[in-house]
Amino acid sequence: AAASLIRAGGTVVFPTETVYGLGADAMNPAAIKKIFAAKGRPDDNPLIVHIAAVDEVKPLVANIPAKAEMLMQVFWPGPLTIIMEKAAIIPTEVTGGLNTVGVRFPDHPIAQAFIKMAGCPIAAPSANRSGRPSPTQGKHVLEDLDGRVDGIILSSDAELGLESTVIDLTVEPPVVLRPGDITLAALREVLGDVAVSANVTENVVPEKVSSPGMKYTHYSPKGELVVVTGSPEEIREKISKALAHYKGKPMSLGVLASDETMDFYREGFVISLGSQKDPKEMAKNLFSRLRTFDELGVEKIFAEDIPLNNETLAVINRLYKAAGYVFI
Ligand code: TXA
Ligand code: MG
Repeated sequence: AAASLIRAGGTVVFPTETVYGLGADAMNPAAIKKIFAAKGRPDDNPLIVHIAAVDEVKPLVANIPAKAEMLMQVFWPGPLTIIMEKAAIIPTEVTGGLNTVGVRFPDHPIAQAFIKMAGCPIAAPSANRSGRPSPTQGKHVLEDLDGRVDGIILSSDAELGLESTVIDLTVEPPVVLRPGDITLAALREVLGDVAVSANVTENVVPEKVSSPGMKYTHYSPKGELVVVTGSPEEIREKISKALAHYKGKPMSLGVLASDETMDFYREGFVISLGSQKDPKEMAKNLFSRLRTFDELGVEKIFAEDIPLNNETLAVINRLYKAAGYVFI
């Protein structure tokens, strides 16, 4: 039924291993426009094209770079989006007017069956209203898009919880535009030199953020989110002080802590992101925890900073964006 909706030019939400996607026929401009309308997404933000077999990439791109072949062999199906020069048949609505296209072969049995049965490549952004945390559970999709799309395939919670790594192969050396579960170290093992977009590197070091306080609306919970930096002791002290400051005021408070630190806090809604020793668990939980604070009506959220390393880069990137790069 979902595949027929796609063939009829409709929109369907489907599960992937990263987050839920909001799909439409990538070759049908009218269907693509419905994606942007349902999400409230600016139409110059390009969509990823999803396929269900490696050989389906060929008609979508002008040429397949040797480095793309290497990445596909190692990481597909999986959470890696590869940007290449687009073929003329891809509508500009999909690529936001760019002459490149991002392609991904998701590692999820339902996504693969759905794409195969639809019989066309599926353009799909994450299935959230623009600016909201990406949906990792069926209930998040219903919250954001029920009544705004033609179909929804509900499944179990997303295994990874953060969107795919995006790598641009149209430049040399290749550049990671968005970090994800496939880490820089893993990409460098295959490709050698790989650069990282300045947007990512500069903005994961609080002292270096170019415009602190700048309010992005990416991934944001409804409450005001700030990231609390410093040594573990400093973080605890700053948060405890802040909680004490608001005590007795009509303000609903939250703390995004870890398994190791959550018992320390005595006020507000204290939620663990997972164990500090398990970056994959933190990545899987981040977006759903941000939505949990919304469900609880939390107005001010203090998130403990996360130490930066190869495995935590992606979750830090999303946490800082969600906080609009506001640090205390
Ligand atoms: O895991 C994922 O990638 C999920 C699932 C559904 O596959 N999709 C997803 O799509 O996160 P979206 O639209 O929320 O994020 C796609 C990102 C955007 O930041 C977009 O700007 C970038 O990829 N992107 C897509 N095509 C691009 C291109 N041709 N050049 C540069 N950036 C591109
Ligand atoms: Mg998105």
